[in-house]
Amino acid sequence: MKLNMHRYEEIWLICGVSLLVAFMLVTGYQTFALDMGPPSHMETIDPQKVDQTAPFDKPGVHKIGDGEYEVVMTLESFAFSPYEIEIPAGSTVHFILTSKDVTHGFEVAGTNVNAMVMPGYIQKITQKFGEAGEYLVVCNEYCGAGHQYMSTIIKVV
Ligand code: CUA
Repeated sequence: MKLNMHRYEEIWLICGVSLLVAFMLVTGYQTFALDMGPPSHMETIDPQKVDQTAPFDKPGVHKIGDGEYEVVMTLESFAFSPYEIEIPAGSTVHFILTSKDVTHGFEVAGTNVNAMVMPGYIQKITQKFGEAGEYLVVCNEYCGAGHQYMSTIIKVV
């Protein structure tokens, strides 16, 4: 069977399909060959039992070494817990995050920290805070009526 198509239509179609294939090859190469898949997301957790599951049974800021801190945090509509985080300037902070209900976002303004926090998964992300100041943390995944109020502050002193 021969499709009755105009020449230009045919060329346009070939261009479109080629671009699609090219994008898929680039994305596939980045994901598998360059290992640029989403960070962590390998560790799972029962979202119903977050409060009873370590390390989330003790959320907060924990010093784990010289200039090194661990922030264990749970996210739920519409709050970050712990609410206030204070760390000395120059510290490296390892965030360990999970959600107790729906998918939330964890974005620290002025840094490269931008993570999706999904229920059932443990998200880990590390950031060095060199300069003192107040860093605004916002949820950047729409999570319900109070989404726009979901924010906190990281105080670097
Ligand atoms: Cu949490 Cu939007």
